[in-house]
Amino acid sequence: MSKITAAITAVGAYVPEFILSNKVLETMVDTNDEWITSRTGIKERRILKDKDKGTSYLAIKAAENLIEKSGLNPAEIDCVLVATATPDMPVAATAVYVATQIGAVNAFAYDLQAACSSFLYGMSTASAYVETGRYKKVLLIGADKMSSIIDYTDRATCIIFGDGAGCVLFEPNHEGFGFQDEILRSDGIGREYLKIEAGGSILPASEETVANKQHYVFQDGKTVFKYAVSNMADISERIMQKNNLSNDDVDWLISHQANKRIIDATSQRMGLADEKVLVNIEKYGNTTSATLPLLLSDFEHKFKKGDNLIFASFGGGFTWGSIYLKWAYDKKQTN
Ligand code: UT7
Repeated sequence: MSKITAAITAVGAYVPEFILSNKVLETMVDTNDEWITSRTGIKERRILKDKDKGTSYLAIKAAENLIEKSGLNPAEIDCVLVATATPDMPVAATAVYVATQIGAVNAFAYDLQAACSSFLYGMSTASAYVETGRYKKVLLIGADKMSSIIDYTDRATCIIFGDGAGCVLFEPNHEGFGFQDEILRSDGIGREYLKIEAGGSILPASEETVANKQHYVFQDGKTVFKYAVSNMADISERIMQKNNLSNDDVDWLISHQANKRIIDATSQRMGLADEKVLVNIEKYGNTTSATLPLLLSDFEHKFKKGDNLIFASFGGGFTWGSIYLKWAYDKKQTN
């Protein structure tokens, strides 16, 4: 019997309608469009305004988009993974609610959290389930309502993040397409530089933690930037070397969208031409777990069967890594 590889066979996405532009941010904090654009590449981001809706809303919409596009019967899904740093609640898992709402009645479901690398790590988990033959249809969703943990008086963070969701279906492939290789890393040194201090077991929520704004994202941007540039570039170069891929062999770089300058540093190290480097940060900002699947959704029409994709991410923790995947299909006709 031929070896089973885990291929992405369908993609879905959702972003909320409300657009928060750099111009509007200028009226909220001491910043300007020129600074944000030149330092990050971001022009606008999407925000889920409805107060009663959480990350599950974004995840369900993205999953429904995939189901509609692909004709997938949700009852056939074996497992639903939601990669997220902003679950609906600390307990119970967002993925369980999402699975039930989309009709994945025969699936088990759980959340996966590794900050901005949640989706990349989730790709490793989902594909391993499929490669081993244990499960046949694994739905991996990356979703974050970052606006729920951002202080909109802090110009260091509020200009960066946005809300969104994307998802992929992993299925067995017998022609060698799909997941090829990975290098994943983490380093606990990072937790001082990018964190939400309160609300966990070390510092549970209290009147004091709320007053001190300790439930919002804190980021030492300069330090995170330095680690992100060197680690993401290193690991992407290493996965190419490990798989004997030249820059001509790589068709697309699917990089986490945190800062255009970090993406540029990575693609330069890989020696890639600009047209192979997929970027949509100008539209959505940093959507944390949703950046990679939102790129797949926006650029799905460009991918051809057999294309070599390199995924790369860097995020809080620190967590980072690179995945090499062979695209498994030419664009499907949708109604
Ligand atoms: O996705 C998870 C991983 N996260 C990342 O990868 C993010 C990594 N970090 C970054 O992308 C960048 O560090 C930022 C975009 C967050 C900041 O850019 P930077 O070039 O590192 O700026 P900086 O923090 O060094 O600040 C430079 C200057 C400072 O002023 P002085 O001290 O030079 O007078 C800041 O006070 O820019 C000032 N500044 C701003 N000015 C206008 C900081 N934020 C803003 C702002 N608008 N929003």
